[in-house]
Amino acid sequence: MTEIIGGYFTSHVPAIGGAIAKGLQSDPYWKPFFDGFPPIQKWLNQEKPDVAVVFYNDHGLNFFLDKMPTFAVGAADEYQSADEGWGLPVYKTFTGDPALSWHIIEALVGDEFDITTCQKMFVDHAMSIPFELAWPNVDAWPVKLVPIAINTVQHPLPSAKRCLALGRAVGRALESWESDDKIVVMGTGGLSHQLDGARAGFINSDYDRFCLDHLMNDPEALVQDSIAGIVEKAGTQGVEILNWIAARGALGARPLAKRTENYHIPISNTAAASVVLEAV
Ligand code: DHB
Ligand code: FE
Repeated sequence: MTEIIGGYFTSHVPAIGGAIAKGLQSDPYWKPFFDGFPPIQKWLNQEKPDVAVVFYNDHGLNFFLDKMPTFAVGAADEYQSADEGWGLPVYKTFTGDPALSWHIIEALVGDEFDITTCQKMFVDHAMSIPFELAWPNVDAWPVKLVPIAINTVQHPLPSAKRCLALGRAVGRALESWESDDKIVVMGTGGLSHQLDGARAGFINSDYDRFCLDHLMNDPEALVQDSIAGIVEKAGTQGVEILNWIAARGALGARPLAKRTENYHIPISNTAAASVVLEAV
């Protein structure tokens, strides 16, 4: 039977890749952030998932503003990391799991989600940074990947409520997947940050705290705001919380325990956080 081991949530600031490439994990600026990851690495090394189902957003590398799917599910044999890298080598290929991808796609379409299917897909720092943080110093990623991209870039964005529903539908698809696989669900991005405009540099720790405190037991609380309301509270790029909300949805109603949480301001322009919600 397929086992869902829980959810791993993290920010994906590209500068983290530069810090990893330069070995700056113990540098005073970076240490409080990187200190969040040994418990996550330990959990993953104990549980040894076979597949990662990852909710993330593309940053203009695979999709650009001229063609922007609201929800896109990868169904490729492999995914190349094609980010500019910020110093992090981009050579490591992500191996796909097309059979599981198509099972999820069938289930989502059956549930009336009008998704885009991608049999060719590049991934960027929203994928490579969370993987590097989870599995440092590996030659090859130890999990297969099913990428699910949510539009957090080109408005109109899907509502938080819709992202939670998408995640829940993916969770039901995972429940009905007949395999011996262990699956980790991931949500990347956030927390509050704004990279551009008059409020560039905006961070809102009260809202971040609210999200961290309600993610596990009351995700409905995170979907009460409109997209404009989330942008106001979290910043223009803080809407990446949509990826966390969808990933939380995929964990369903099973009992969860917060295995670890770390929150640190700032990393680059971002309030950075990492969380593991373990299925218990
Ligand atoms: C930063 C954060 C992001 O989520 C991103 O995609 C790019 C840059 C930042 O804070 O620098
Ligand atoms: Fe981002």
